[in-house]
This record gives sequence, C-alpha cells and structure tokens, in this order.
Amino acid sequence: MTLNEHLARHRQWFNSTSLLELFDSDPQRATRFTFETCGLRADLSKNHVTDETLQLLAKWAEEKRLPAAIERLFAGEIVNPSENRPAWHPRLRNLSLDETRRTLAQMENFISAIRAGQWLGGSGQRITDIVTIGIGGSDLGPRLVVDALAPYRLPGLDLHFVANLDSVECEGVLRDLNPESTLIIVSSKSFSTRETMANAERAARWLSANGISELKQHFVAVTANPAKAADANIPFGEIFNFHEGVGGRFSLWSSIGLPIALALGIDAFRELLSGAASMDVHFRQAPLQTNLPVLLALIGAWYTNFWDTRSRAVIPYVHGLRYLPDYLRQLEMESNGKSITVDNRPVEHQTCGVVWGSSGTMGQHSFFQLLHQGTSLIPVEFISVLGGVARDCEGYLEMIANCLSQSRILMRGKNLAEVKAEMREQGFSADEIKSLAPQKVMPGNRPSTTIILDELSPRHLGALLALCEHRVYVLSILWEINAFDQWGVEYGKKLSAKVFDILEGRSQLQELDSSTLNLIRLYQQQT
Ligand code: F6P
Repeated sequence: MTLNEHLARHRQWFNSTSLLELFDSDPQRATRFTFETCGLRADLSKNHVTDETLQLLAKWAEEKRLPAAIERLFAGEIVNPSENRPAWHPRLRNLSLDETRRTLAQMENFISAIRAGQWLGGSGQRITDIVTIGIGGSDLGPRLVVDALAPYRLPGLDLHFVANLDSVECEGVLRDLNPESTLIIVSSKSFSTRETMANAERAARWLSANGISELKQHFVAVTANPAKAADANIPFGEIFNFHEGVGGRFSLWSSIGLPIALALGIDAFRELLSGAASMDVHFRQAPLQTNLPVLLALIGAWYTNFWDTRSRAVIPYVHGLRYLPDYLRQLEMESNGKSITVDNRPVEHQTCGVVWGSSGTMGQHSFFQLLHQGTSLIPVEFISVLGGVARDCEGYLEMIANCLSQSRILMRGKNLAEVKAEMREQGFSADEIKSLAPQKVMPGNRPSTTIILDELSPRHLGALLALCEHRVYVLSILWEINAFDQWGVEYGKKLSAKVFDILEGRSQLQELDSSTLNLIRLYQQQT
C-alpha cells in the first residue's frame, strides 16, 4: 500500500470517530497535541488527527525530503527555479550577515535623521507624516505590523498607507496631511507596478500643487531595482535597496519594512527580526514531529488533500491582528495557488485553497453561522494573545471567552437530544420543540487550531509571521510546486494596459470576446 493509500484509508477511520470521542478517550489529548516554541503555542488537539495521523503525515514530509528542502532554503540555493532565484527572506533576519547589517545601518541613519529633524521637508519643516505607497507584499506586511504593534509606536510620526489604483484612496490620505511635513516612501520591488507608480505621481502632483519644489526632501524609494528608481521622473532623496531574491510577499524584513522601523524605532524592528530568526532556528532544528511550521503545514495538507476542504478561515481574536488574514491571503494564495509542479507536470491533487477571515468577534456576526451549520467543512485558525499590553485592554478576557467558546462549539456541537432537553428546560411546548429543534442542532466535529502568542510584541509577531512563511514553504514541498513565483498575475497586468488604451481611445477594439467588447463599449458610451 502506498503512503497515499494509507492516508486515504486512515481518513476513512475518522468517519466513525468524532473529535468529541477522541477527547473522551484521551484526557491528555489537549496536552499531547499542544506545541510550544518561540513564545507561541499551538493547540492542535481540536483537529482530526491522532498519533498515527501525525506519523503518516511525517512520512509524507520525509518522502518529499523536507529536511533537505529546508536546508536548501537556508543555504540560499535556487528554490525558485522558474526565476532562477533563491528565497532570501531568512537571510534578512540573520543579523550576523554584513548585507543585513548594512541595510539596518542605512535604515537607522535615515530614521535618526528624520526623527532628529536633520532631514527636513523642502520648506524647512520637520517630517511629521509618512505615507507609504506600495501594493501586495510592498504594503501588506508593513501595514499589518505597524498596526499590530501600535502600542510600541514612538511619538512624533504618523504612518499612512496607500495601495489602490483608485485615486480616491490616495486623495483621501493626502487630503488631511500637511505637504510641507509629509514624506512619501515609494515601495516597489520591481519599481514598475502600475498602481504604485500612479500613486507616486499623484503624490508628486499633490506636493508640487502645494508649492513644494524640493521633491527630493519628500520622497525616498525602496526597491530591488535601484537603477529604475534613480531613472524615475521623481527625484528620491534616498534609495533603499534589497536583493532580488527576496520575494515581495516575504519582504517586510528587508528595507520594505522601513515604515515599521520609522513607526517603532530600529530597536523594535530588530526585535521583530529576532523573533523571526528564533522561528528560523526552530524550523531548521526541530524534529518533524514537533516542528510547528511543519505540523501546521501537514495538517493543512491533510485537510486539503484527504478531507477535500477548499478554504481555511483565520480569525484573530485581538484587534491588532485584524490585517493578518489579508497578509496571509497573499502570502499563501500567491505562493501556493499553483497547478503546475516545479518540473512542469500538472498537479494531481488540490493545492492551496482560499485563505480568508476577519477579526473575532465580528466574524460571529457575519460568517460563523456558515462555519457552525453550513454544508462546508472549513478548518478554522484562531489567533489570540495570552498577556502583555493586550491584556490591559478592557474587553480582552471577554474576547478570549468568545474565542475559546467558538472553537469548543465547532468541535463539540450540540445534538438533537441536547437541543430538545434545553428547549424543554426553557419551557418550549412539545409542538414548538418538534418544529424548531432540528434547526438548532449544531453538527460540531468541525476542526480548529488555536495559536496563542505569549504577547503581541515585535518579537512574538516576528516569530508568528516567520511561522506562516515556513508553513507556506513546507506545503510547496509537499505539493512539489514553486512557492516563490507568481506568473499567474503577469497576464492581467499586460491585458489591463491594452484595455485601458482601448477605453481611452488610444487604440482600436481588438479581437476580444463579445462580453468584454460589450462592456468596453458601455464605458466608451459614457465618456
Ligand atoms: O501581485 C504581483 C506582485 O508582483 C506581488 O508579488 C508583489 O508583492 C506586488 O505585485 C507588488 O510588486 P512590487 O513590489 O514589485 O511593486
């Protein structure tokens, strides 16, 4: 029997064994399936796994030679074959490397100059507001971290983010700012992303329209293509470079993280890197059976490939992590939303599903109905915080109570007999119970993982985000796909430029489908 056949047969065993029965048969289950590292703990016990499951899944990892693949990543080997590149992100938090130290030194000098009032705006005013223009990996990581670590922000600078091509966002951000004391960071690995270039030009027009002639004092660039930034028609007072081997969605640890370091200070940024570095050590050294990125990836693949799930919900029960689902959506779906293997074979199984979610408890008033009584099996990942500054917030323990209750209800459910007994106690009549009880049954047996950070600090957040990055890489190895390219988004960029030309009358209608042609004509008639 192949391992795949063994896993498939093992999956069938769960048809007659519920999560509740697994708990009832093993009082130590929660302890045995909770794993801790780097100030995080993950309670995996509410997943459809047994010791045998994890042993079989570990065999899958061994069959794919995962330990060797991990070493290839950290050795800077070509793990992105279609672009002939390494994946450089682990090097970014290796503080022993000269290139890392040089980048941090350049960031630190710049931050000091801004915060000490040595770098002034064109009219001599100190910089008070930083607007970061970027999209995708040049936006989502910094946006998440600056927001999540708000309690660690230093006074004196306000951070703003602009990503959308729709000028309403950019105009809305700039409208309330003082041009004389605003600095624009243009973050773009390629320095050719249409949205980012359009917003950078909007910002330049806004500054000029407000009498700012010394644009160099109001613009810096962060890119892996410094030559392109230097040739841009916007003058940059400083250009921060990073290696082309750093993937956009893995780049917050590079100078793309400049907004983070400006908001929190370079020491907190170093703490973020150190937290990630601690997870790197764990990922490289821990045995597969207790390796948290590996375990989360294996359980994810278990559901994707043997439970036929098509999505995973990420629900942070701490307001500061409300942007985490957005960040993970790109990190996971742009990395593993692939259907061709690294050696050009069509995959023979599902790969990455949809990663979605939003903050708890808002989700409880939005989509938890589906999670509890819907027809789809959707594994849920609860993220919360044990202590630290989050604990000082009013409402913290009530949030935690909701988080723990939701994961219990998903697992335990409430059967018809229990619903009927409850309704009898509440005084419902026999007819009312007969007609209503079936509607109130909670199927349960729905899996979840609970990840708890000791505190929402730079170090712990760094460890969490590195954990998520390594989970993505492990899944790509299991699925034999390339986690580090994104050819699927290139065509859209090119076609939208052509359609834009048609809409603006710069070129004629081309051989397009009738729907697209009709829609173009509709818009052309409006002008
Ligand atoms: O979505 C495609 C993509 O290339 C992402 O991978 C990247 O994070 C984003 O666009 C922005 O790219 P850049 O940093 O080059 O502007």
